[in-house]
Amino acid sequence: MDVVVLAAGLGTRMKSSMPKVLHKIFEKPIIEYVIDCAKSLNLSNIFVVINPSIKKVTEHLENYEIQTVFQDEPKGTAHALLSALPYLKSDKILVLNGDTPLLRKETLISFIETFNKDKVDMAILSFYPKREHSYGRIIRDEDKKIKRIVEITDIEDELNLSLEANSGIYILKREVAELVKEIRENPKKGEFYLTDIVEIANNKGFKLEAYPLAEEDELIGINTRAELSLAKKYLRDRVVKEWMEKGVTFYDPSLVWISPSVTIGQDTIIYPNVFLEGNTKIGQNCIIFQGVRIKDSIIEDNVQIKDSTVIESSYIKSGSKIGPFAHIRPQTIIGKECRIGNFVEVKKSTIGDGTKAAHLSYIGDSEIGNNVNIGAGTITCNYDGQKKHKTIIEDNVFIGSDTQLVAPVRVCKGAYIGAGSTITKEVPEDSLAISRTPQKNISGWAKKRREKN
Ligand code: UD1
Ligand code: CA
Repeated sequence: MDVVVLAAGLGTRMKSSMPKVLHKIFEKPIIEYVIDCAKSLNLSNIFVVINPSIKKVTEHLENYEIQTVFQDEPKGTAHALLSALPYLKSDKILVLNGDTPLLRKETLISFIETFNKDKVDMAILSFYPKREHSYGRIIRDEDKKIKRIVEITDIEDELNLSLEANSGIYILKREVAELVKEIRENPKKGEFYLTDIVEIANNKGFKLEAYPLAEEDELIGINTRAELSLAKKYLRDRVVKEWMEKGVTFYDPSLVWISPSVTIGQDTIIYPNVFLEGNTKIGQNCIIFQGVRIKDSIIEDNVQIKDSTVIESSYIKSGSKIGPFAHIRPQTIIGKECRIGNFVEVKKSTIGDGTKAAHLSYIGDSEIGNNVNIGAGTITCNYDGQKKHKTIIEDNVFIGSDTQLVAPVRVCKGAYIGAGSTITKEVPEDSLAISRTPQKNISGWAKKRREKN
C-alpha cells in the first residue's frame, strides 16, 4: 500500500505567515505527526504532496526520508491526489490529511484491516464531531449505504443530514483513485474536491464504506488557531491519562502541558501550570510544584522542583531540592541531595553531592565539589567582557555571603571565605581568605549629626 499525505494547501484560515502544517503541537510540527504515524506502519512508500512555492515546507521535509511530490497550484484535495498518482506503484492507496496530526497507529491498523476484511473498493474513516465544525458530511441512503460526501459550504438543508463527518483519511483501490481525473471543479470554491470521488465511484458500481473507528479527539483536522489549540488539549489529555494510568498524580490534569516525548516515574506529583518539554525524563517520587518549566532534562528520583523554576538541558540527581524561582541553564549537572534555592541561577556548571546554594547566587562555568556551602549573594564573575573563565571550588569549602569569585580562580579543599570578599587568586587548602576593608567605628558620630539638624 502506498501512502499519500496531502499537505499542499495554503492554510489560509490559520491567518499566518507560516505554512499551516509547520505549526507546532508541543514542539513538533503538525505534518511530522502525520508522517511519523504513517512511518510507524512500515508501508512501502510515503509520498507527501507539497506546494513548491511554500519553501519552508520543502526545506523542512528535506531530511525526512519520505518522497515529496509537487502540486503546482493548490487546486483542491482531488488535484493534490492527482499530482501524486503518476508516482504510485501499489494497487492500494492510503490517503492521509496533512492537517490531522492526532491520528493513532492503532486506528490506522484497524482501518486497514477492516478495508481488507470487507473487501471494499474505497473506505472512508469517519467520526461524529461534538462541536461546531467545518468537516464534510457523509450522506447515506435509507439502507445506510454511502451516497456521497457534501462539504459544509454546499450543505443547504442541515436537518436532513446525518452528522457523520469525513476525516479526510481514505483507502482507495487504484481503479477508484484513477477516478480523480473525472472530478469537476466545485462551482462555489473553484477547487477540485476529492470527496466528489464518492459519488462518481458509486455511480460506477464500486463498493464503498465509511467506518467510524475513532472520536474527534483523534481525527480533528486543524484549519484554524482554535482547532490548533483544541488539538493540543486533546493530545495533552491523552498523554496525561497515560501517565495517570502509570501512577503519576496530577493536581489538575487540565492544567499541565506535557510533551508526548517526556517520561515520568511512578508516584511523582505534578502541580498545575507545569510545562515538561522535549526529551525530559522525570524520576519516581518527585514533586514538581506549580509554574515549573523543564526542557530536555533528566531529573532523578525523589527530587523536588519548587514553584516558578526553569530547567533546561540539565541533569538533577536524586534527592535534590531546586527552587522556588531557580534558573538552571543548559549543561548543568547538580549532584545528589543538593539544595539550590530561590533566585539562584546556575549555568554550565557541575555541582557535587550535598552542596548548597540556597539564596540569590549566580554560578556560571563552575566546577563545585561535594558538601560546599555557598552563602547568599555569591557570584562567580565568569566573564571579562571577552571570554568566559572557570571557577573551581573543591570539596567542603565554605563561601561566606556576598562573595565575588573573579574567574579564573580556584578555592582548594576545606577553605573558608569570609563574607563580603572579592577573591581574585587561589585560596589554599584549609585556609581562610578574607578581602574586605576592616570596620571602623566613630563614636558619637550619629548623635552629633542629629543634633546639627
Ligand atoms: C477536507 C475534506 C472534508 C473533511 C476534512 C477533514 C475535501 C474537499 N474536504 O476539508 O470533507 O471533513 O478535510 O479534516 O477534501 N490540500 C492539498 N492541496 C490542495 C488543498 C488541500 O494538498 O489544493 C491538503 C491540505 O494541505 C490539507 C488537506 O489537503 O492537509 C485537506 O485540505 P483542507 O483545505 O484542510 O480541507 P478541509 O476543508 O479541511
Ligand atoms: Ca482541514
